[in-house]
Amino acid sequence: MIAGKIFYRGEFVEAGIEVENGRIKKIGKLVESKRVKGVILPAGIDVHVHLRDFAEKRKETIETGTLSALHGGICLVVDQPNTKPPVDNTKTYFQRMEKAEKSAYVDYSLNLALTNSNHEKLGEIIRKISKKYFIPAVGEVFIQHDSEDLQINYETLQKVYGRFEGVVFTVHAEDPAYVAKGTPNFVFRRREAEVLAVEKLVEIGNFHFCHISTRDSAKEIINSNSTFEVTPHHMLLSVDDYGRLGKLINVNPPLREKEDVEWLFRNFHRIDILASDHAPHTLEDKEMGASGFPGVETMYPLFINLALKGYISFKSLVEKIASNPARIFGFKGYGEIEVGNFANFAVFDFKNVTEIRAEDLHSKCGWTPFEGFEAIFPEKVYLRGREVLENGVKAGNVLKHSVNIM
Ligand code: NCD
Ligand code: ZN
Repeated sequence: MIAGKIFYRGEFVEAGIEVENGRIKKIGKLVESKRVKGVILPAGIDVHVHLRDFAEKRKETIETGTLSALHGGICLVVDQPNTKPPVDNTKTYFQRMEKAEKSAYVDYSLNLALTNSNHEKLGEIIRKISKKYFIPAVGEVFIQHDSEDLQINYETLQKVYGRFEGVVFTVHAEDPAYVAKGTPNFVFRRREAEVLAVEKLVEIGNFHFCHISTRDSAKEIINSNSTFEVTPHHMLLSVDDYGRLGKLINVNPPLREKEDVEWLFRNFHRIDILASDHAPHTLEDKEMGASGFPGVETMYPLFINLALKGYISFKSLVEKIASNPARIFGFKGYGEIEVGNFANFAVFDFKNVTEIRAEDLHSKCGWTPFEGFEAIFPEKVYLRGREVLENGVKAGNVLKHSVNIM
């Protein structure tokens, strides 16, 4: 039994939760003796993380990335397939899932890459993987990418989309014509790259758009049947942070002008998903110009603080970080505190506002673009009813498990 102030059906209620076999059996009367200090919210889902591993262990591993997720109140991550080697075939997919089964601290799922070279075999690959694992999306589809291997053109995407109604396709929408090779990634044309790609793609079909960063493309998607996610850094940072971040600044899509940032922030209630695009690179790699910010551990804590300060509502936050991701990607049993669902909770003490420090975080990359920002980290995290994190310190009974949600 876990009891206290619970976020239930859009509001805080005083109640007790009975758990059986990892799932919520009953939500009922508050039992004072079992009262948890702080408020109990559904643990978050981060549908966009790059946990590296394989040949890029120096940046992050499934183990360190999911440990970071756990400390940030996240119970399930969706890993992206732009690994080295990429997850664009059955063998690598199985290999990665088996690795996760041994080393993940939270539930783990993996998108399958769609590339110009594997699209003809996509049906067969999906069929084989689906016998054993739930594929949340065919994802990390790059309309534009430095590596030709990962890139895909509109025509191919259109062809493939037509054959796979019902499969969620997640797209990095940037038109190649507007991303000139070798130019700094924050030039004006990079904004047009996103707007134009989104315009073209909503004509092709319904997609889930990764990390949307401009108000024009957000509005376009809101008026379509597609869905989209926004990252904390595109809502909280802008080109004005160039001075502060220096060499750390590069990220795809780039940070935007204040007008876009403020629009996304004001329209938080209209976005579908808050996702971190956790893309860890070492400081050495950043010096060399690598693009990407870490963020899986700081996302929920930053936004809990914003909700507490009244900038966004808790209802909206829980929707974007838990219930919508579960619904859009089809994770049954996740996203809401409801009878029958997994007992996955994050407990936050609203009095415990801290400042984010890279040295306190668990990603291997060793830095954060949110250094010094106010946040509220979870006091406790429960996964399937088991307390796996307590007082910000890893408890002894951390579960090592992956996910096979069928
Ligand atoms: C991503 C990464 O590092 O994997 N980087 C990023 O800036 N978002 C890849 C990408 O989306 O370009
Ligand atoms: Zn990405």
